[in-house]
Amino acid sequence: MNDEEFELLRGLVSREIGIVLKGAKRSILTTKVAQRLGVLKLATYQDYCSFIVSDQAREELYLLASHITNNETYFFRETQQLDSFGNLLRDIKAEKQKMGSNVIRILSLGSSTGEEAYTMNIILHESGLFVWDWDIKITGIDIDRNALRKAADAVYSQNSFRMVSEEDDRVRKNFTREHNQFVLKRHLTRNVGFRQGNLLTKEAYAGLENTDVVFCRNVLIYMNDDAIKKIAGNLHGVLSDRGYLFVGASESLIEKTKLFCPETLYGTTVYRKKVPALPGA
Ligand SMILES: C[S@@+](CC[C@H](N)C(=O)[O-])C[C@H]1O[C@@H](n2cnc3c(N)ncnc32)[C@H](O)[C@@H]1O
Repeated sequence: MNDEEFELLRGLVSREIGIVLKGAKRSILTTKVAQRLGVLKLATYQDYCSFIVSDQAREELYLLASHITNNETYFFRETQQLDSFGNLLRDIKAEKQKMGSNVIRILSLGSSTGEEAYTMNIILHESGLFVWDWDIKITGIDIDRNALRKAADAVYSQNSFRMVSEEDDRVRKNFTREHNQFVLKRHLTRNVGFRQGNLLTKEAYAGLENTDVVFCRNVLIYMNDDAIKKIAGNLHGVLSDRGYLFVGASESLIEKTKLFCPETLYGTTVYRKKVPALPGA
């Protein structure tokens, strides 16, 4: 792959997916594109560039992206934030009851292989706050179809538990051990769904308006400022006015967007929507 072709693909990935591709990714990109040439029966890298640019549905770009994005994730990641989420559940319940609503909607973006979404569901169950008459759904969105397939299977290896020992109560209670695999108990998968989407596009969030909690952790860190602004705009549209947005502990929206302001809630930074004040308020 020559410099011009690499720059074209790098520019496309940056504009459409938001990911900033460092030079070190060039060899991975070259290897993957070489494989795709075979599959697509194309002769040259130049042919591939023309093909990927003309693919309006962006399927080829998303497939390529899935090989260059970082899918790293694991259960109970960043415990301080999870504790804060656990504490907020009581507030959310009180707020919902005041409004006469039993609906709670939660998003995990990019959800990767599902550990974050299921961790939230485990915390919800452990809280004991919500019984059968609550309608709670957690939706994970990611660009990577392979990661989403694993998320839907909900079968994990030890690698997904690097923050907790496999002897931990939470692991023993919520997973069934089958040889070297940990199968999430099926009642914890029922209210969790996954779908493919590009977080920079509005379509990714269709039907998810009025979301109460968004986890968008360890995604923005790989993105350029324009992409972060686009995602912030999309999240502003999808979160309810009283909603809560968590970004990763090493990420920040300060100086990136004016749509959210940080608040310290239960010991961690949580972003809240800036909502225009009502006249006379
Ligand atoms: C490092 S993982 C984070 C997983 C999880 N949120 C966590 O914190 O453990 C980042 C995920 O974001 C996904 N991703 C990156 N860019 C994306 C985009 N534009 N749209 C949707 N998903 C994207 C990647 O495919 C990857 O699975």
